[in-house]
Amino acid sequence: MSDDSSSARHILVTGGTGYVGSHTALQLVQGGHRVTVLDNLHNSHAASLDRIRSISGRSVSFVEGDIRDRGLLNDLCRQANFDAVIHFAAMKSISESLQDPLAYYDINVGGSINLLHAMAGAGIRQLVFSSSATVYGAATNLPIREEAPRSSSNPYGQTKIAIENLLASLCASDDGWRVAGGGVALFQSHRRP
Ligand SMILES: NC(=O)c1ccc[n+]([C@@H]2O[C@H](COP(=O)([O-])OP(=O)(O)OC[C@H]3O[C@@H](n4cnc5c(N)ncnc54)[C@H](O)[C@@H]3O)[C@@H](O)[C@H]2O)c1
Repeated sequence: MSDDSSSARHILVTGGTGYVGSHTALQLVQGGHRVTVLDNLHNSHAASLDRIRSISGRSVSFVEGDIRDRGLLNDLCRQANFDAVIHFAAMKSISESLQDPLAYYDINVGGSINLLHAMAGAGIRQLVFSSSATVYGAATNLPIREEAPRSSSNPYGQTKIAIENLLASLCASDDGWRVAGGGVALFQSHRRP
């Protein structure tokens, strides 16, 4: 990542106090970028932001909130002038998703839809989405290629597939979107040089 302040960006990291999100936020601030974290602290602690500050010497802005709160997301995206969003906020337990699929669809899919609405409304169309290898089901051809067929026997994986499908449709409908993600194809980069 660049230290050049002219290339510094303001990035919204959803789920940014969690395991992967906090490491990503640390890398971003160490790269000279400005970071705002949105997290409801369901599975994490705000103390991770203190650790980012003590390691990097840089602060991360924090908004405690839920991606199911569309009004909050709309206000945040309109006011904060983000250049891009990295979306980690989600529930991620396969066993829990089998017991409470409604919650998983509500948070993972509904929350992502809220986020995309808020981004579109604010003219932010650069997104990195944290998907999951679960979307490839019981893949037999290893290593798994990004374009391998998707299938999942559990609601957690199915919510990730649903979001990937939505992102692919969004990119197909409007080539202004730039969407990439772990476990997903680089939608727009596949379509544009
Ligand atoms: N850890 C892995 O090995 C792995 C592998 C593949 C994919 N992923 C995906 O990466 C992302 C991050 O995973 P992680 O391991 O860091 O999980 P994590 O649980 O540590 O982080 C997720 C964060 O999202 C927050 N969150 C949950 N629901 C929320 C809501 N409704 N509103 C706002 N914030 C909410 C949690 O509080 C938590 O801080 C997830 O989307 C997960 O599916 C993780």
